[in-house]
Order: sequence, then C-alpha cells, then structure tokens
Amino acid sequence: KRSAEKIEVAEPQNKLPCSAPSLSTEPALYSGSFPFYRRPSELGCFSLDDKRQYYGDARALRYYSPPPTNGPSPNFDLRDGYTDRYQPRDEEIQERLDHLLRWLLEHRGQLEGGPGWLAGAIVTWRGHLTKLLTTPYERQEGWQLAASRFQGTLYLSEVETAAARAQRLARPPLLRELMYMGYKFEQYMCADKPGGSPDPSGEVNTNVAFCSVLRSRLGNHPLLFSGEVDCTDPQASSTQPPTCYVELKTSKEMHSPGQWRSFYRHKLLKWWAQSFLLGVPNVVAGFRNPEGFVCSFKTFPTMEMFEHVRNDRDGWNPSVCMNFCAAFLTFAQSTVIQDDPRLVHLFSWEPGHPVTVSVHQDGPYTFLPTWYVEAMAQ
Ligand code: A3P
Ligand code: MG
Ligand code: MG
Repeated sequence: KRSAEKIEVAEPQNKLPCSAPSLSTEPALYSGSFPFYRRPSELGCFSLDDKRQYYGDARALRYYSPPPTNGPSPNFDLRDGYTDRYQPRDEEIQERLDHLLRWLLEHRGQLEGGPGWLAGAIVTWRGHLTKLLTTPYERQEGWQLAASRFQGTLYLSEVETAAARAQRLARPPLLRELMYMGYKFEQYMCADKPGGSPDPSGEVNTNVAFCSVLRSRLGNHPLLFSGEVDCTDPQASSTQPPTCYVELKTSKEMHSPGQWRSFYRHKLLKWWAQSFLLGVPNVVAGFRNPEGFVCSFKTFPTMEMFEHVRNDRDGWNPSVCMNFCAAFLTFAQSTVIQDDPRLVHLFSWEPGHPVTVSVHQDGPYTFLPTWYVEAMAQ
C-alpha cells in the first residue's frame, strides 16, 4: 500500500479556506511489512544540570549499578524522600526544541551524511516519535505536533493539548508521587561514576538530564533526533552508544496471567517504542508492591518485547507502529511546502479520528527561536 492512498479528504476545517487532507490512524491500514529503519547512530550528546542549564557534554550521564544478583533481593523504598528531597522540573516552562537546536547550531558544520543532509532531514525529539509510533493503538490521549520548514529541514515540536494541560494542572497527589517514584528508582540503580555505588540519600532533581543526539532514517525520511537516556552500562558487551544504554522503568507488581497480559498489551508497547527508536537494547523494570517498594527486577530485551504479543489478537504490531510513523512523516513533508520558520502547520489528533491540519502564521505556535533562525542564516 502506498502511503498516499491513506490520505483521505476530510470535512473542511475551520481556519482553512478549502477542504484539507487528513491521515487515518487505523491499524489495519499499516499492517504491511516492517519498513526500513536505519540502525540509530549517536552524533553527540548534551546534558542539562540541576538548574536546567545546557552543557555540550556527558556530565549528566549516569552509570548502571544494580545490586549484586547473588545478594539479597532488593528492597527499594521508592517513596523515600518524597517530598523533602524532591526538586521537580517546572513543567510550565515549554522548552520545545530549544536544547536540541542549540546542539544542532553548535554542530551543524560537523554533521555526517554529506552536504545537504540536514536540509533533507526531520529534526525532533525521540519522545514525539514515540507518540507517533503508538498512535494506531492509543485510545486515551491525543496530541498536537507543530511543524515548520526552515532551510529545507522539517522541524516537529509537540504542543501540549488543552486536555493534557488541564490534566497536568489537576494531577492527583497519588499520581504526583508515582512520578517521583519512577525517578527515585533511577537513583537506586545508578551511580555518578563508572564502578561507583548509587546514593539514595541525595535529592531527586528532575531538571537533570542526559540526552543523546542520533541519526537514523525511517523509509526515505532521514532523521535527527534527541532522547533522554537513563544510564549507560559500563559492563555492556558493546561500549558503543546507543547499545551501551539502559532504560529504567517501574511498574506495578503482577500476580495473575491477566495482569501480565494487560502489561504486555499496553505498557510494553510504550517501552518498546521509546527504546527501539533510540536503539536502547534493554529495559530494566523494577516491580513495586502496593507499599511502594521494589522487591524484584526483570530485564526486557527491546527486540524480544513483541514476542509477548505476537500471538495476541489484541496485541500491538511493530510494523503498524513504524508504517504509521512513516506515513505521518510523508504526510507532513507533503503538507508543509513553504520554507518559513514563522509558519506553522499544526497536526492534531484525537483517538478515534484521523490526523488533521491547521495553518498558523507568526502566532503563538511559532517555535523556531529567533536566535536559532538568525544564527543559521549566517
Ligand atoms: P517510570 O520509569 O516508572 O515510568 P522514563 O522512564 O522515560 O525515563 O521517565 C522516568 C520517569 O518519569 C517515569 O518513571 C515517570 O515517573 C516519569 N514520567 C515520564 N513520562 C511521564 C508521563 N508522560 N507522565 C507521567 N510521568 C512520566
Ligand atoms: Mg528517562
Ligand atoms: Mg526510564
């Protein structure tokens, strides 16, 4: 199936003078063979410190340091330090692509791929691509992606939906604590130095982040994206990023086959999409009991996750995820024609509907900063 056939004509959208194209997200339309996905290679990295300041190095990278496997089973209190040793990032600050653009500005002269590679590429966050991958199976949360073309390159930057904003502002206390617990688990599992030991007595500051910048290609779409990486494994068989990276996750302890099935259908899809895109080979899950203690771990190799749903009629299919993402990128590339950093095509999606587009000039949706546009023009 050619992706162009998936583009259907929808009812005219407000703000648009004529009928606009839209893109279906029906899984059945994307179940062809797995598309080409270039093995992601790391171009560089950057770090954000405890005040969310940018550094063009790996200072925030942490080292995987699980408890010894022959010792006692773990007993990590994920609620320890909540809230007295917690410095949460200010989620009101919309950073958009800014940190990635700073990295790109400082490295644009050294990019591989030959002259003009960047002009043909798509630049975005890995997290935005993760949302695209899981869209055919998502039944709860919609998304909006702002797109601008500048010097040929297509930039994609997520816009928080009104519903997501309302949910964030009304986040129940238990959900806030669960968020903290995910980061606390990282602190129990990571050391600041290779061979060092974790220090769970310190603060959890979610401003701190290590981000890898990667090059890949999906079908005929060259990609440059960045993603946050939890840690690197100094003992990994390959020391070469991204294959030395480890993704850490927490999840509820499971006791029945039904709980495992639901975990494979929903959570493992998100874990797979996130780690597959960046080329992270393993996800280490800590299972927490109702009291918030992690008493067991399990490593899920990214390339084996699909096996848990391969024979499940209500499971997910990596081909559907990747084919939909490729179709969306084709759709975006053919929709955003004008090269103008102040022009935004806003792609909007709600579960049960196709992806639609609206156009915005010089408005609040413009996301390529003046400092970037002016420096790139030099
Ligand atoms: P979990 O690992 O338990 O999900 P990540 O796993 O991507 O490294 O993110 C680290 C933690 O950030 C998560 O822990 C979770 O606590 C929090 N987090 C990430 N994405 C989130 C989201 N969309 N909503 C709420 N919390 C989120
Ligand atoms: Mg993380
Ligand atoms: Mg994680």
